[in-house]
Amino acid sequence: MSNPIRSITGTFDVLPDAYRVDDALIAGSAAWRHVEATVRDVMARYGAEEIRTPILEPTELIARGIGQLTDIVSKEMFAFERGDTNYVLRPELTAPVMRAYLQHRLDQRGGVQRLYYIGPCFRAERPQRGRYRQFHQFGVECIGAEAPQADVEVISMMIGVYRALGVSDMKLRLNTLGDAESRPRYRQALQAFLAPHAARLTETSRQRLETNPLRILDTKDPGERALLADAPKLVDFVDGASREHYDRVRNLLSAQGIAFEEDPFLVRGLDYYTRTSFELESPALGAQSALAGGGRYDLLALEVGGREAVPAVGFAAGMERLFLALDAAGIAMPAAERLDAYLVALGDEASEWATGTAARLREGGLRVATDLLSRSMKAQMREANRLSARYAVIVGSDEMAAREAMVRDMAGAEQERVPFDDLALRLRA
Ligand code: HAM
Repeated sequence: MSNPIRSITGTFDVLPDAYRVDDALIAGSAAWRHVEATVRDVMARYGAEEIRTPILEPTELIARGIGQLTDIVSKEMFAFERGDTNYVLRPELTAPVMRAYLQHRLDQRGGVQRLYYIGPCFRAERPQRGRYRQFHQFGVECIGAEAPQADVEVISMMIGVYRALGVSDMKLRLNTLGDAESRPRYRQALQAFLAPHAARLTETSRQRLETNPLRILDTKDPGERALLADAPKLVDFVDGASREHYDRVRNLLSAQGIAFEEDPFLVRGLDYYTRTSFELESPALGAQSALAGGGRYDLLALEVGGREAVPAVGFAAGMERLFLALDAAGIAMPAAERLDAYLVALGDEASEWATGTAARLREGGLRVATDLLSRSMKAQMREANRLSARYAVIVGSDEMAAREAMVRDMAGAEQERVPFDDLALRLRA
């Protein structure tokens, strides 16, 4: 084809081998499995259980859960209508997990539900390094506990995954958003402070001043940052109970030796948060520095139609950004699982033997591949090497006549003749 169809910008194929797009590493499938296995292992250490929710959700869930005025809902949703239903490709999993919790009455299982997930999310953002249209999150939602210990446990799970993979260059930023009333009061105060300076704001921030002034706190513009230095601080608008909760979170983190930095401007881009909010950053990532983020969302259940508030806290992390951090730290990822044997067959008779033998060896649990292209010995050996086979089993007409295969150890290159009947035993050694 002269004009082959390409994947959508901001989405990636995960291939057997890693590759780079511009400067960004797209990890190979074995590295993905390794990271996913590490996530599962760390989650299991906390008694978290896996949940898998649909990629398609009702748009209303996301709009009500995350908030109409957020960037995600107002401009980044892949949403469409079909018949009389509005669908959205999920941009995150917190609202979907809460929906599932309420729908299936998971509270009736008793106690606290620690639900973890790994899966794709979709946001129609302008793609750049570390920011994609299809990306993957892993995370946990800890539903049913009000105690600050839950906040700290979630933060510890999040950091635990990076530590288990060897990433140490991270910074945890922490803030409290207070209760449902704190934010509107602060919003008003911030608007009142910024309004007289509107002329000094960027175009985007001027728009946000009306719709979502708290997002201005995220600005990277140096002029705006200077202006904000004198702005009212969220923490001064926070109610007493939330402050106390925040104090306990900070003390528990310190007691566990988890370093953090308080950031009174950390508001996050989703509206469901109350009390604790946090973000984990890696200085190695450049502009898209957030590895993961999360917080408490005690009122989300009400927003999505639950009868009562359900205390909950969670985090989610970007897989692609984790790979960028691993790459920046020079942490090697495992290659694909190796083959036990590659059967190098020369000639038709040997090729037929190889087909039958490979089938038998596989039934016995061995990993075996054969040549399907009647290639030269050299080409078949190259293939054995590429697939990291432990042994090459070489069979030509002489070996067929003697009913013995030449077994070569690919690492040491020693070889020995092994009777066909003893092959399975020898390859297991
Ligand atoms: P979020 O901050 O929107 O939070 O996303 C969490 C993480 O997902 C980010 O820190 C980033 O690593 C990754 N991420 C987000 N958007 C993209 C993108 N376009 N491309 C690549 N990676 C991206 C949430 O989604 C909340 N649900 C977190 C949470 C869980 N809060 C409570 N529980």
